[in-house]
Amino acid sequence: MTHFFHTVIIGAGAAGMLAAARIGQTGHRVALLDHAAKIGEKIRISGGGRCNFTNRHLNGHDGSAYYVSQQPRFVRYALSQFCADDFVALVEKHGIAYHEKHKGQLFCNGSAQEIIAMLQNECAEGKVTWHTACTVENVETFQTASADNDPRQPRFRIQTAQGIFHARNLIVATGGLAVPAIGASPFGYELAKQFGHSIVPPEAALVPLRFEHWAEHGYDRLAGIALPVRISTGSGKARMAFDEDLLFRHKGLSGPAVLQISSYWHGGQTVDIDLMPDTDLAAALCEGKAGQKIQLNTALKSLCPTLPDRLLDTWLALPEFAPYAAHKWADVPNAVLTRLGHSLNRWTLLPSGSDGHKKAEATRGGVNVKEIDPKTMQSKLQSGLYFIGEVIDITGWLGGYNFQWAWSSAACAAAAVCREAV
Ligand code: FDA
Repeated sequence: MTHFFHTVIIGAGAAGMLAAARIGQTGHRVALLDHAAKIGEKIRISGGGRCNFTNRHLNGHDGSAYYVSQQPRFVRYALSQFCADDFVALVEKHGIAYHEKHKGQLFCNGSAQEIIAMLQNECAEGKVTWHTACTVENVETFQTASADNDPRQPRFRIQTAQGIFHARNLIVATGGLAVPAIGASPFGYELAKQFGHSIVPPEAALVPLRFEHWAEHGYDRLAGIALPVRISTGSGKARMAFDEDLLFRHKGLSGPAVLQISSYWHGGQTVDIDLMPDTDLAAALCEGKAGQKIQLNTALKSLCPTLPDRLLDTWLALPEFAPYAAHKWADVPNAVLTRLGHSLNRWTLLPSGSDGHKKAEATRGGVNVKEIDPKTMQSKLQSGLYFIGEVIDITGWLGGYNFQWAWSSAACAAAAVCREAV
């Protein structure tokens, strides 16, 4: 059975659903295909079940600073055409209650399921045809001059387990590789390659980091501790730093600080963590010791009120500090105090790797933006072919930036396909 559509979208996630709704509502026939039986799964599990659906910091600003890509400026046009406030207007139209948590992050008061329902309702309004549990077997083009020039002619033949689809436009919205258990696949990259696109190697991003000898140092015993830190990696102009919360785990580190820095971290690079940002501990320890009879461990605890005792005890149990932990503060040599202070202000770690795609919230890399038009999301190599959302080499910071990219790129592509009248 052959179906004809103005636009076929592969991937019924965040970007795919929004694009489908907008194209359908313009009066075009649009089909949304997904190999998963249950759609919107990433939205459902996002933001701890409350979906951090956008970030207010993107309103009226150049948003490129919040994105990792070979060319972060690629995001500018799309984000300016459909900004955070545009998505908020949609959320309000559907009566979804939301709140700002911090740093501009907007979450549903209730459940992420409300965002899925909203997108489904928008699709229903656009009479979108759904094909779930639908495996796409192959995609071919009708490579004739008439197919390209006559807007009534299909350009693509999409063979699936549920029949053949002919479409004028094909939008690839298959997302990244994070959490394969709920439908992530490399299909979008393979399809892009078929049309000559290059792929920036996809890697796990917004992901916990692991370290060798973690348990040997006793850090595994700190699991569960969360505290605000300054974390940084890279050097020179490429150095990135975040002030966020760190979370100790049995196998390494996580929390917003580590998730953020993981998107900038490359194998072999070290990560620096300042456990007491804004306090020069070496100076405080050396300058404050004169005449002090209290033990070093007591002194350290009073100088670091935000650090849990469990963490400071582990620190003072490290071989280079252990012999001094119970000494009178005044008697501890300045060289030791300086090393101790520096070790807390600049804890340098060499990650051995990350938790990988299984535990990541995003994928760094993807379809190279150099071969995509930033104003339409259309391929520069194949007319009628579009890429939107996370399948592109665009990765947002933690905090609603990835969903906003999905919405903005989807809106741009939808506007572009609708400009070509049939
Ligand atoms: P998305 O992944 O949403 O959709 C892709 C769709 O394509 C899926 O439905 C999939 O089944 C389908 N597909 C894949 N391969 C296919 C194939 N071969 N054939 C057919 N269909 C195929 N972001 C944010 O801004 N705020 C947040 O709170 C969170 N929280 C969060 C938590 C967790 C645990 C994760 C894993 C991720 C987040 N994110 C996030 C990131 C966010 O979920 C992500 O960036 C967007 O969902 C990307 O939207 P896309 O539409 O591009 O892909």
